[in-house]
Amino acid sequence: MPEAVIEVMNATKIYEGRTILDSIRMDVFRGETLVILGGSGSGKSTLLRLMIGNVRCDGGDIIAFGESLGKMTPKELDDYRKSVGVLFQSGALYNSMTIADNVALPLREHSNLSEEIIEIVVKMKLEQVGLRQHAEKLPSMISGGMKKRAGLARAIALDPKVLFYDEPSAGLDPVTSAEIDQLIIDLNKKMGVTSVVVTHEMDSAFRIADRMVLLDRGKFIADGTPDEMRNHKDPLVHQFVFGLAEGPLTDRRRAGGYEEDLFGPPGGL
Ligand SMILES: Nc1ncnc2c1ncn2[C@@H]1O[C@H](COP(=O)(O)OP(=O)(O)OP(=O)(O)O)[C@@H](O)[C@H]1O
Ligand SMILES: [Mg+2]
Repeated sequence: MPEAVIEVMNATKIYEGRTILDSIRMDVFRGETLVILGGSGSGKSTLLRLMIGNVRCDGGDIIAFGESLGKMTPKELDDYRKSVGVLFQSGALYNSMTIADNVALPLREHSNLSEEIIEIVVKMKLEQVGLRQHAEKLPSMISGGMKKRAGLARAIALDPKVLFYDEPSAGLDPVTSAEIDQLIIDLNKKMGVTSVVVTHEMDSAFRIADRMVLLDRGKFIADGTPDEMRNHKDPLVHQFVFGLAEGPLTDRRRAGGYEEDLFGPPGGL
């Protein structure tokens, strides 16, 4: 059995009386790239936030490296958050700082390294994402794909054991998106880092995934290797994986009331 570094134990999240995640049970295994799939609003980013420890479960728990996030003190949770790397949907760089300073930030805040060493580490991280030549530029001077790379360099600054990505290729052209995917694969293979990637882009998912999990309206639907997902019997999985216009997802939308379309599924109240 592979070792589970993160165990999602029937995690439930409720916002404003709505069940956004409904008793999700899944594992992330050491060294793998796990892709979380699902339509818009299915709860992918929320699940990622629970695993990162930014948001607490309302039911169930997340066990990370054998420790319950639910039982951690604020200080322990803070230490856990520092031990993982996160690349947010937006990239989230500080616009007034150079790329190098953005990458140096976590090192200055959370390590005791000297400025000389930090400078070397920053160069190494920027080299890893192909941005060493752009170290002194401001975020506004570089392209969207380069911003994602810079965000990634910052996410790996403290050598995280797990890297979380939320829609790493959102808003990028197909070639740049493929480059980011290659970078995710390289970091996984070269650094041996465990990766959890949220996406709804199937091309990207099939390029990078060792395993996939599909969520739908806050519920776990299926998991498996890319091949298992391609050959899955559940018509919902089949429709999502192949991006088909006909199937249970679209039937439901046509049958569903206008209210459900606007406010999501009933329940959780
Ligand atoms: N802080 C919050 N307060 C209230 N509702 C929230 C909050 N965060 C998320 N939600 C709701 O939870 C549901 C799932 O949101 P989430 O962002 O996890 O979806 P997602 O799968 O990441 O979607 P997308 O693909 O559009 O990014 C949505 O209906 C959203 O409105
Ligand atoms: Mg999201």
